[in-house]
Amino acid sequence: MDTNIFKSTMRRESPDRYFQFVSRLERFIEARRLTLRMQLYRVQCHFLCQLGLFKFLFSVLRRFRPIFIFSKLLVVTQAREVRAVLERFDDFTLGESIEPGMPWGNFLMTVDWRQRHAQERQWLQSAVDLTADPARLRAIVDQRCRQQIVAAKGHIDVVSELLEPVVVDIADKYFGVPPLAGSTRDMAHAMRDLAGIIMVKPPIGSKPWSRSHSHIAKITDLVLNEISSAASPTAGSHPTAPSDTLLTRFVQRLGTSGAPVWFDEDWIRRYLTGLLATGGATIVRAAAGAIDQILAHPDALQEAQKVAIALDQAMKCGDDERVDALRTTLRHFVYEALRFRPMLPLLVRDTPRDTVIAYGTKNARLVRAGTRVLAPPLSAMFDREAVPDPSSFQAKRPFDQYLHFGFGARECFGRYIAEIALLEVFRSLLLLKGLSRTKGAKGQLQFDGPVAVGLFVTFQ
Ligand code: HEM
Repeated sequence: MDTNIFKSTMRRESPDRYFQFVSRLERFIEARRLTLRMQLYRVQCHFLCQLGLFKFLFSVLRRFRPIFIFSKLLVVTQAREVRAVLERFDDFTLGESIEPGMPWGNFLMTVDWRQRHAQERQWLQSAVDLTADPARLRAIVDQRCRQQIVAAKGHIDVVSELLEPVVVDIADKYFGVPPLAGSTRDMAHAMRDLAGIIMVKPPIGSKPWSRSHSHIAKITDLVLNEISSAASPTAGSHPTAPSDTLLTRFVQRLGTSGAPVWFDEDWIRRYLTGLLATGGATIVRAAAGAIDQILAHPDALQEAQKVAIALDQAMKCGDDERVDALRTTLRHFVYEALRFRPMLPLLVRDTPRDTVIAYGTKNARLVRAGTRVLAPPLSAMFDREAVPDPSSFQAKRPFDQYLHFGFGARECFGRYIAEIALLEVFRSLLLLKGLSRTKGAKGQLQFDGPVAVGLFVTFQ
């Protein structure tokens, strides 16, 4: 029978059954749609984590079509154009694509108005004490690494047993946001979801979507609570909370002369939530990726271990000059390892008005308003014109060949935190005798959605 005849007969003769039938049908169609969107989400996450396909596609494009435009999509693949896209703040904007991943409200990354972005960034930056904070951060990371490694007894999941406790400590002792319900694990999982939703947006109504929104609600309560405790310390719910954190520094500025008109408690809530989202699981994903890659390059691993040992000795002797030099050498290994598995392999922009890319070159192309742009650091860092012999691991490349932290006015705000955390975790692990991947699947980097969730290593 024709479906329309069936429906209208049913509606006439048994309206209740008809409406039940329609609502069941709608639920069924919605469930099928969600399944399909989840499959698409999983595919996106897979390719963002297992970078083989992207590496291959970008190598082909770099060679045959370095500026690739298809309908409303532009992919730039050479280092020069990737930098140009990231640098041209007004021509290629970030807000539209990033906003759905930051449902807690405006944050630096959603601000596309250049002057306002510069003001808010400057205000955020003004709370950082670049003389004292690095040493403090280093001590936080170092102490937590020691504690976790001693407890590990020869076998450790560098994600959940090392990196996540480190970032939860940074959130607590430096940002000023204590663990959710006092639990390192709960806080680490909340930070996973906060970062995950920015990297790849899960379908509305899916499990990862609901989990992220529930975690955002909990983090909002937590941050608001900390703000009011810091505003009236006598009523503070955490008597042991550190008194000098980014959160307390901002709270102390509320209502002071010289503070911008837009600066209020809500700004502190949005920005502290933003820092937890951009500065927690990002460090975990980056460090886990770098460790995975140093383990994948045994010669480099041996060299890096020698540097870590020398650094340890120089630290014990209090030879500050040598310590600085060796830290820089070790940072080269971290950056190079990360090049093979960048934390953010693709950066996205939108084109608010018609513009031209590669202007003045033979590759110049018109980019129409409304075009989505992919500017992949992964491709730029394998462009042999910018990075000679890109497939070989060379820990002596100049730092300016890397694009791990973006480029231009939107260069990573938390780079000073990330570099210290990466270096200290790297150093702690490299000092372990017999460091190697645990055999089997556990020794491979595991992901849940776009976030790193496991990588076991063994040591003596
Ligand atoms: C290894 C870890 C990290 C990596 C690899 C990383 C990488 C990046 C990159 C590539 C960008 C530029 C995004 C774009 O242009 O679209 C960025 C921006 C940003 N990052 Fe990070 N990041 C890390 C850790 C952190 C930390 C620890 C924080 C803060 C606590 C942080 C806060 C930010 C913020 C606020 C921005 C936006 C800057 C702006 O729009 O002006 N990041 N990061």
